Amino acid sequence: MSETTHLIGLLLGTEEDWPTAFESIVRRLGPVTDSTETAHRYDVERVTVEPFNLRQKPRYDLVIDRLAYWYYHPREWLKKAALMDDLYLLNSPFTFQSMEKHAAYCAMMRLGLKVPETVLVPYKNPPDHAKYAFTAQRYNRPFDLDAVAESIGYPMFMKPYDGGAWVGVTQIRNPAELHRAYDESGQRLMHLQKAVSGFDVFARSLSIGAETMVMKFDPDQPMHARYSVTHNFLDAEVGDEVVTIGRLVNAFFRWEFNSCETLIKDGVVAPIDYANACPDVAITSLHYYFPWAMKALVKWAVFCTVTGRKARYDLDTRRYFDVADRDDLSYEEKISAYRQLADSYFETERYADFCASRLANLDEVVVDWLDSLEFDRLLVETVQTTFPAHEHDHFVAHYRGLLAVSAKDARTALG
Ligand SMILES: Nc1ncnc2c1ncn2[C@@H]1O[C@H](COP(=O)(O)OP(=O)(O)OP(=O)(O)O)[C@@H](O)[C@H]1O
Ligand SMILES: [Mg+2]
Repeated sequence: MSETTHLIGLLLGTEEDWPTAFESIVRRLGPVTDSTETAHRYDVERVTVEPFNLRQKPRYDLVIDRLAYWYYHPREWLKKAALMDDLYLLNSPFTFQSMEKHAAYCAMMRLGLKVPETVLVPYKNPPDHAKYAFTAQRYNRPFDLDAVAESIGYPMFMKPYDGGAWVGVTQIRNPAELHRAYDESGQRLMHLQKAVSGFDVFARSLSIGAETMVMKFDPDQPMHARYSVTHNFLDAEVGDEVVTIGRLVNAFFRWEFNSCETLIKDGVVAPIDYANACPDVAITSLHYYFPWAMKALVKWAVFCTVTGRKARYDLDTRRYFDVADRDDLSYEEKISAYRQLADSYFETERYADFCASRLANLDEVVVDWLDSLEFDRLLVETVQTTFPAHEHDHFVAHYRGLLAVSAKDARTALG
């Protein structure tokens, strides 16, 4: 039997929990045999940041990146490796700019999704730049902020066009709040977006490669309690629409590790945030769903490397626009056409077959790992570095409970 080894790189910021989990699961998984009886072995290494020659070949076959959205040096390393060395990346570094919400809103509006009305207003305080002042004086039109707000209608949200982590997000109910928020926005460029008020469900879906988990989310809860362990909280059709929207955004921009927020009211699905270069996969946030996320990451990394899937950094926008621009298709018909495009991009069927035939042991590997001391140590250490000392006992018990349920459900599914 022939053998080959793949090196998976993790390009990380401050996270320790999921990388440790990922490393443990890959180690426990052992070699994966493909249809030609070749055994694929895996090593996982954390990528370090250092000078690189543009012609130097990276040692990695695939990199899971969690850093390059914020730092230019690793971002440029990723672009070089994508262009020169066919390094497989889950999120295209060429469309990071679109992860600044604005471009993603535009693209999804063009595709006919029900993105709430959104207006981009000019800076409250322009950049401190001599040429800007000159240009602004000549060309910037004075505008009536109240009239803009009225065209959208209260309540609305003001939020940075490139935002993340709720920084600078304000709910606005009247003109006084509008002016206060705008005055405070300073040099940040802001969207005003119609609020979806009184929504029935906030669904947050996490997509990793060809898989998507739709979770019920409550933004008003503290971090550890935002995702609730609830199944079937959407009817099948709406659930499918939410999955399609997440995959569509991802296939469109070539993102394979991204989360998507949708608000559902009276059966209408409004996507409000779906450009997250570094979606939250902390064990303390995902808890019950954490093992699913780790499995999906391992499966996708293995699928891509064993099958030699080639990254596609070219955007196929025209194919999506051709669907969007057809007058004879209803919204539902367009959604199902987008689903086909997205599933074809992600090779969803081939991936499912691959997992069933080549990774059939993974579920058991993960259940055993959840039962292990190694996992418990990771959980305890993560709680200790996340919460203040007086809350450690409480949260260790809390997460042990949720993960035990997750392991039990996974064991039941195994039969
Ligand atoms: N149009 C809207 N209607 C209703 N609620 C909204 C709307 N826009 C934003 N929100 C609320 O504000 C929160 C933050 O907005 P948004 O997700 O756009 O910003 P963010 O900075 O990316 O946040 P995060 O990093 O947590 O995803 C949302 O999770 C939601 O609760
Ligand atoms: Mg958000």
